[in-house]
Order: sequence, then C-alpha cells, then structure tokens
Amino acid sequence: MTPGVRPLIAGNWKMHGLAADGLALARAVATGGAAIRAELVVCPPATLVSAVAAAMAGGPVAVGGQDCHAAAKGAHTGDIAASMLADAGARFVILGHSERRAAYRETDPTVRSKAEAAIAAGLTPIVCVGEPEDDRLLGRAEEVVAAQIAGSLPPGFGAAGGVVAYEPIWAIGTGRTPTEGDIAAMHAMIRARLVAAFPGQGEGLRILYGGSVKPGNAAAILALPHVDGALVGGASLVAEDFLAIARAAG
Ligand code: PGA
Repeated sequence: MTPGVRPLIAGNWKMHGLAADGLALARAVATGGAAIRAELVVCPPATLVSAVAAAMAGGPVAVGGQDCHAAAKGAHTGDIAASMLADAGARFVILGHSERRAAYRETDPTVRSKAEAAIAAGLTPIVCVGEPEDDRLLGRAEEVVAAQIAGSLPPGFGAAGGVVAYEPIWAIGTGRTPTEGDIAAMHAMIRARLVAAFPGQGEGLRILYGGSVKPGNAAAILALPHVDGALVGGASLVAEDFLAIARAAG
C-alpha cells in the first residue's frame, strides 16, 4: 500500500450476469461496502451498467465499464463510446485487459487512444498491463510491462488520476500468483515509471494487482509496497468474497 493513498478494489464481472443476479450481486456489495475504507467499483457487462448504477446511486460503490471505443461516436457497430458509459452512470472503465488484447488484438496504441477517450468523457481509466508466462520464465517480465506502460498511458493519465492494474496473464483465472517478491518488484518498477512519466502525480496514482486474488491471499498481496488495491475477476462474482478482499485492504 502507498501511504496516504485510498485503496481501490475493482470487480471485473467479465461476461457474467443477467439482470436479476447482477442486481442482486450489486446490492449485496453495496450493503456490505458501507463499512469498508477502500473505494469500491464493480464493472458489470455493458448491458447492466445503467441498471447497476441506478441501483447503487448515492451508495459507497461506483460502477465501471469493461471497455470503450476510442472514438467519441460514429459507425462502429457493436461498440460503446466512453461518453455512453458515463451517461449510463459509470465512473471508471477497464481498458486493455489481457483478454481484449488477446481476443481483439488490442495494441498499446489502441489502449492509449481508448484511455484518452475515457479521460475526455470524465471516466477514470483502469489500464491493464501484464506479461505472458513465457516472458516471466525468460526473465523479461519487467521489460514487457515497462513497454506496455510506455505505450498505453496517454499524457493526461496522471492529471486524471488514472489507475494501472498489473495482471500477469498466467495468473488470471488460474489460481496461481507470482511470489510476493515478484509482485513487489513489478509494482516498484511501475511506480518508478509513473513518477518519471507524470512528475508530481505519479507518486499518488494507484497501482492494482490482479490475477487470482482471493480472500485467502488478499491481505498479504495488499500489504506489499505500491500495491494500492486489486482488480478481481472470479472472486468478484461472490459478494462475500469480494467484500472480504476489500476488507483486507485495511
Ligand atoms: P481473476 O481475474 O481474479 O479471475 O484471476 C482477474 C482479471 O482478469 O481481472
């Protein structure tokens, strides 16, 4: 944790949730979230952003999208503009998740343009970075992530209070996590890059860890220096697990 920084615990529901179960999950998180110090955000599928935001209005939990288009509007069938997410009640948006980088070939410049669009629409971008397992095994993890940081964050990222989520690809949904030493080393590298890129702002930007965060490992991970919260996938679909992780942020 970075001193003086309020932790952020974000739930990435991915492609899970119809109206009834999504709203029930959101309400359970909102009820339990009132007593929690960390800032909480849930990122439901786009179809539920509006309903979840309405159900959570005035409460302790913010809502985020899972992606947006880089353009403000236009002929982009199936896509969603950042302003549309904001209009639906979102305050955050996850960008450059490894599942999108892999399935839709999103590159660093794409992610950077999306982050610019998100900031222009008043959303806080949560930009994901993280190495494949091969690069970790070859000792190249920090180099790969440093390049993603250099390529994915637009100039306005620091002023907008942007969030970076370090998610090693091989740890997502696998139950495996890096060692605490490896997480701490990566977050320290990311901090140094943020401080260099955004002087006067990079010190306070939040760096989340993501990849198989569970109630059982959250406290140890969240206690590491420069780990300012978590991006939680599978465990965010169970309100009690998500809340337990949030409580572990202190
Ligand atoms: P996981 O997913 O917590 O299920 O590993 C994290 C993510 O993809 O953001």
